Amino acid sequence: MLSAVERTMEQYILGLDDPEIFQLYQRLPSGKRLRAKLIIKIAGNGMKVIKTAAIVEMIHAASLLHDDVIDDADMRRRKPSLNALYGNKPAIMFGDILYSKAFFELADIDRRVARVISGAVVQLSQGELSDVALSQKFNTDQQKYMRMIYQKTASLIEASAEAAALLADKDPKPYRVYGRNLGLAFQMIDDLLDITSDALTLGKPALHDFAEGKCTLPYIYLYEALDGSDQVKLRSLHATQLTGSQQQWIMQMMHRHHIIPKCFAQARSLIDESISLMNDAGEGALSKIAREMIEREY
Ligand code: IPE
Ligand code: IPE
Ligand code: MG
Ligand code: MG
Ligand code: MG
Repeated sequence: MLSAVERTMEQYILGLDDPEIFQLYQRLPSGKRLRAKLIIKIAGNGMKVIKTAAIVEMIHAASLLHDDVIDDADMRRRKPSLNALYGNKPAIMFGDILYSKAFFELADIDRRVARVISGAVVQLSQGELSDVALSQKFNTDQQKYMRMIYQKTASLIEASAEAAALLADKDPKPYRVYGRNLGLAFQMIDDLLDITSDALTLGKPALHDFAEGKCTLPYIYLYEALDGSDQVKLRSLHATQLTGSQQQWIMQMMHRHHIIPKCFAQARSLIDESISLMNDAGEGALSKIAREMIEREY
């Protein structure tokens, strides 16, 4: 069914009747399609469902185009990012086109679905803004981090699950909670993978967050665990281009203070909650998505 989503996205872009845009679109690699899978697993494969999945994936792609400009990232989905290839301006404008076309099509789906999805995109944009604002300083506030990742990542996954439930005439409440937990854990794992994985496996830059000023959960916990002089050292490395030995020091400290398993356990408990919610609702396939998400390597 994912192929129907791919075809629908292609039709939407072809509908713009602009060969240059279509060419740009064809240069975008696909990604994991987590949000589309979620929608189809909840709501089946009716026309409106496939269209909603295509719309959400276009929105997600647009957010990544903008995110790579914001984060100064030169790789995405195992390929050079669009901003690395053509510069920031085309990446921003192509992102705008994907967003606008997605909203144009969303208007014809269902009023409630349109409200849920577009509301989440407002949150996502606020989340990106607050991610940048938080990265200006060394943030040690876990609550601010959680609020920001809810906005930038969990909101769209939550909305995808809720919109799918609405389309399928299911009670949206448990799906909403499932989507929110899954989304929070998803970003927590993304932030862990930035530290534990390499660019080749990730298909995007690794150990990039801290250099960009992002104090993700592992850095917040590490800071709490360090003694005074090491705290000063960690602060001094914030938002700088790290040398090999500085990277090694951070990894050593993460290891010594068991930071990675601590963060993983926190993501795991959100996932366990969402799995038991879906098991209760008789939605085994959704439990499986959650389980696979936490075990992913990219
Ligand atoms: C990347 O999302 C951005 C985050 C929310 C962490 P995905 O990891 O779902 O990206 P693709 O679509 O699979 O490339
Ligand atoms: C998620 O944050 C981005 C969006 C929600 C658009 P990141 O900046 O961590 O995502 P990646 O790591 O670049 O995919
Ligand atoms: Mg990024
Ligand atoms: Mg970002
Ligand atoms: Mg990331």
